[in-house]
Amino acid sequence: MISRDIIAQIPKAELHVHIEGTLEAEQCFELARRNGVELAYGSVEELQSAYRFNDLQEFLDIYYQGANVLIEEQDFYDLTWAYLTKARTQNVLHTEMFFDPQTHTMRGIDMETVLNGITAAMAEAESSLDISSRLIFCILRHVDIDNALDTVAVAEYYKEHHIDRLIGIGLDSSENGYPPNFYKDIFDRARAAGFIPVAHAGEEGPPEYVREALDILKIERLDHGNRSLEDDALVERLAQESMALTVCPLSNLNLKVVADMKNHPLRRMLDLGLKATVNSDDPAYFGGYINENYFAVAEALDLTEAHLYSLARNSFEASFIGEDQKATYIAKLDEFAASNGWQIAG
Ligand code: HPA
Ligand code: ZN
Repeated sequence: MISRDIIAQIPKAELHVHIEGTLEAEQCFELARRNGVELAYGSVEELQSAYRFNDLQEFLDIYYQGANVLIEEQDFYDLTWAYLTKARTQNVLHTEMFFDPQTHTMRGIDMETVLNGITAAMAEAESSLDISSRLIFCILRHVDIDNALDTVAVAEYYKEHHIDRLIGIGLDSSENGYPPNFYKDIFDRARAAGFIPVAHAGEEGPPEYVREALDILKIERLDHGNRSLEDDALVERLAQESMALTVCPLSNLNLKVVADMKNHPLRRMLDLGLKATVNSDDPAYFGGYINENYFAVAEALDLTEAHLYSLARNSFEASFIGEDQKATYIAKLDEFAASNGWQIAG
């Protein structure tokens, strides 16, 4: 068994984290007070005791409520800064964060307010904490297509007007009943504008949704992807194409995508040759940041040094940074592995 202390020190990237999902209950109360927003819960403890979910939808209902306290640019800055600070203490060297513009624009908050706050914290963290980051805007599946098209148009505008950290488009929210093909036009337009496409698929939805994300949305990374394992031909294809999967173990446990961490498919994914990574998804709601996710799978699945090395290496390889920067990060990982005498062959 590899110690938590060692796992915590592994240089790593995080590729699946929703910035709204990093809103800790304490910070939610603080922002509610600051902005005069009424919460449906009387205390931090009462709010936290509501963090028990039977499926994705039960989580989303609480998660969207939490986001209502985010109003001012400073709120988005504080939220992002808190996450980046925390991630850096967990030896995250690079992160690609999601945000949900529609959650805010539909409440009357301009995308500019959101983007300015988030990207100012990213810039400050890059210079003072030495953590690089990029941003991916997600389209909410449950909102109408016209609103999604407007969202892409606004994102395009900011991409052209110096928000060059905004690099990708994702797809999230309720999965069942919202197959990726519904969003073809949205993704066609976003890709044409230079956004890198990714999508949540196969979290609760069937393998067919993963195929649609690949064939119709032309994704370059697959978020979750767990249910791909039900389809051998799909697994073979994902392995052949070196398609990265951003797997979120504590999210899967909390949303009952897996019944027990001992049944989590992560180790099987690696052994099948899939390019899996470990991520936190919504750490404030699922009981842990990236290192707690690594600890949970390392212990439940008895992961080896070689597995942990692959997970961290995959995280850098699957990121959307330049090849030089990837090589620099992978060299740090190799140095870490060598200095700990890790056996990583095979
Ligand atoms: N799935 C879908 N939508 C989400 C998630 C998720 O795991 N987290 C935040 N929004
Ligand atoms: Zn997610």
